[in-house]
Amino acid sequence: MIKSTFFVVLSLLTLMIFSGCSQDSKSVNHLDGKALLQSKCASCHNLEMPPKTSADELAPPMMAVAFHVYDFIDMSTPAEKVPASIAFVRDYVVSPSQKKSFCDAKSLNEYGLMPSQKGNLTDDELEAIAIYMFEHYNQENFLDIMKQRRILRDMHSGERVARKYKCMSCHGIAKRKMGPSFSAIAERYKKDEVAIKKSIRLGSKDKWTASRHARMPAFKQLTNDELDTVSKWIKEQ
Ligand code: HEC
Ligand code: HEC
Repeated sequence: MIKSTFFVVLSLLTLMIFSGCSQDSKSVNHLDGKALLQSKCASCHNLEMPPKTSADELAPPMMAVAFHVYDFIDMSTPAEKVPASIAFVRDYVVSPSQKKSFCDAKSLNEYGLMPSQKGNLTDDELEAIAIYMFEHYNQENFLDIMKQRRILRDMHSGERVARKYKCMSCHGIAKRKMGPSFSAIAERYKKDEVAIKKSIRLGSKDKWTASRHARMPAFKQLTNDELDTVSKWIKEQ
């Protein structure tokens, strides 16, 4: 009697700790959900965010699946949605059916029902995949990615080169770091783009006292186009 009460209390505790939230579930599943998703699901579902779609795709893109399941899952509070969505995926992947699918009849007709993946992956692997799906494909991450893209798109191509080669770890645009600021360099060389280019290609040392003998490494790996673009941009700062 005492034993079984203890058991009930323990199970309740475990439930309270491990239901609820995906972070907790993550700590009990150490498999790499991302890699598994790639190897077990990518043959049919496009995994990119935002997704790449095509007329002859075999299945809806994974982002669409995750958003769709999350939107359609019927839960009274938002906190219950992720665990319920994970549970849905865990069930659906091994026993899909027309009745369970949240896909509308037209899409189901076009794609055909998903073939059961039972036997292709273990329960633990499926759990890791399902957890990863809702950690990765969510509104917040999607908006972040779109924002990063917009920032990159609006960025001057010279600054894009500077970021690609991590120039900004030693240079600020207006602020000195280990190296002089790009505006100080522009000021010193005025219109002499050739001098700027040369230093980037060959490196530089002892031309800036504030840099205290620190050496600017030579950047041989920039293409000529990249060198032109980044030098023009520095000159304009
Ligand atoms: C052989 C191709 C194929 C593979 C492999 C595959 N799927 Fe699917 N999946 C589909 C198709 C087709 C649909 C759309 C029809 C449907 O809902 O059954 C679908 C639908 C789904 C849905 C239901 C979406 C909804 O709105 O109801 C989920 C969830 C899902 N897939 C998850 C996965 C996961 C996770 C994997 C990897 C473990 C996977 N699928 C592997 C073809 C595949
Ligand atoms: C590891 C740190 C570091 C990185 C990374 C770095 N720099 Fe520098 N850079 C310096 C330092 C230090 C100086 C000052 C050297 C000196 O005193 O001559 C400098 C100076 C320069 C100068 C002026 C040189 C001159 O002749 O006066 C230019 C132009 C420059 N860097 C451009 C770049 C660009 C473009 C990149 C990326 C492709 C880059 N740097 C990456 C440290 C760095």
